[in-house]
Amino acid sequence: MLTVGDLDGLRAAVAAFRADGATIALVPTMGALHAGHMALVEAARRPGTKVIASIFVNPRQFGPNEDLARYPRREAADARLLAEGGCDLLWLPPVEVMYPAGFATNVGVTGVSDGFDGAARPAHFDGVATVVTKLFNQTGADIAYFGEKDFQQLAVIRRVVADLDMAIEIVGVPTQRDDDGLALSSRNIYLDDEQRAKAVALPRALGVAARAVGRGDDVETALAEARATLTAAGFAIDYVALADAETLAESPAADRPRRLLAAARMGATRLIDNVAIEPIG
Ligand code: PAF
Repeated sequence: MLTVGDLDGLRAAVAAFRADGATIALVPTMGALHAGHMALVEAARRPGTKVIASIFVNPRQFGPNEDLARYPRREAADARLLAEGGCDLLWLPPVEVMYPAGFATNVGVTGVSDGFDGAARPAHFDGVATVVTKLFNQTGADIAYFGEKDFQQLAVIRRVVADLDMAIEIVGVPTQRDDDGLALSSRNIYLDDEQRAKAVALPRALGVAARAVGRGDDVETALAEARATLTAAGFAIDYVALADAETLAESPAADRPRRLLAAARMGATRLIDNVAIEPIG
């Protein structure tokens, strides 16, 4: 696997891939890789495809009181994992390559980014949309893979691609989970043993509520029960909500694909998760 940190080197490598007739697949990450990321790499590996993974801890998507400074960084271990996983190129730009002096452009998305994490983390999705747009332009990828765990992020990126006529296919990959159901996340390492044991309440509460909503039970009752379960487990809740799976509008019609979404804090660690609910009728 080639590791590249400058734009000229990246463009030369991509040109060589293209000269071989390869399709370019991109797996954008912020590093601290786990099996969830590796499932994206695995999904990206196809005959005739070169897989580029990027690692860039994007300062523009962290709020002033968020965990940018302590966000886990372990590039050497990540690079080994990617090489073993069959990645062809690691794109590892330093901050000054991604955001050179004078950088002044922002990709802002309204609507789909307004609620949930967008409301709880102002400027977060602008930061994501801006860096992902840059990653798409830098790599010239044909297809990019994102985890469904960050469901609103995936919806925002699909919106950007559609609105800006980008010639790239976006693929969502199902959430990877630990044996007890907790969604894999680079932030899980912040949890101590007791918090980790309690955190399983998040997927369990969502699962119970999703089954209730899926069989047509009262939505507000199901959401209230999920909130009560999470509070009893020691979570401070940001939101537990039902949304249209495409627009993320709340109070979605039951004959539409829906998503149950939650964000909650266990101690200082903010966890998110979501579950699909099939249309009724
Ligand atoms: O999901 C992530 O890891 C990040 O938000 C992404 C998409 C790599 C953009 O920085």
